[in-house]
Amino acid sequence: MSESVENKPAIKVVNLEKSVKTQEGLLTILKGIDLEVKHGESIAIVGPSGAGKSSLLGLLAALDNPTSGEVFLDGVGLSKLDEEQKAALRKEKVSFIFQSFMLVDTLTALENVMLPAELAGVANAKEKSLAMLEKVGLSHRLNHLPKQLSGGEQQRVAIARAFICEPKVLFADEPTGNLDEANGSKVEQMLFELNQESDTTLVIVTHDMDLARKCQRQLTMYDGSLVEEKVA
Ligand SMILES: Nc1ncnc2c1ncn2[C@@H]1O[C@H](COP(=O)(O)OP(=O)(O)O)[C@@H](O)[C@H]1O
Ligand SMILES: [Mg+2]
Repeated sequence: MSESVENKPAIKVVNLEKSVKTQEGLLTILKGIDLEVKHGESIAIVGPSGAGKSSLLGLLAALDNPTSGEVFLDGVGLSKLDEEQKAALRKEKVSFIFQSFMLVDTLTALENVMLPAELAGVANAKEKSLAMLEKVGLSHRLNHLPKQLSGGEQQRVAIARAFICEPKVLFADEPTGNLDEANGSKVEQMLFELNQESDTTLVIVTHDMDLARKCQRQLTMYDGSLVEEKVA
């Protein structure tokens, strides 16, 4: 797969549009988005529910295809890749914390965290997964299935899973949305540690203004358009 091109932005988005067919006709979810994110930068995307934040994140992470426009990850244009190449690019560079967690139902907390590490051939996958689960305060829930965990616990498993491969880019969709204050600040601290220690680029969708302020840049999504502005 492509080598990292450090002088290219981590993410570049050019005139990105996303429309979907609905029973009421064509719905435009994203309207001509332009964005550049540097390597190691942390950005927050805030904005009302339904504005298109999750849709944008899915396109940036090569999980979905735009109607038009282009996303470049490390200089690689996603529209030129087939599904297999996109999967390889995701595996190599990207982690995603989903708003709905997307844990594997039939795997325990520990197995969910180990899975991407094993797929990526990480040495000591089990030890690293145990340490990561300890970090998110779940050492007492290793053998629980997702359905036996609370929402906040599932979110922390998803966070441990996203961190295990030290991704180049981490997309996090409301990563503290289901957490109490103590766990929220722990996760926040982990996000910025990863950013500083592994130079991971962070793209965080959040309603938490404290978290947004800690990012280097803040962007607001309104009705499918992205505006750069400092949050108060
Ligand atoms: N596949 C789809 N089909 C129809 N409507 C969709 C689809 N995906 C998203 N939407 C609509 O697009 C808008 C943006 O959704 P989303 O990106 O999830 O917003 P946010 O994450 O900002 O809350 C919402 O109104 C949502 O209902
Ligand atoms: Mg969303």
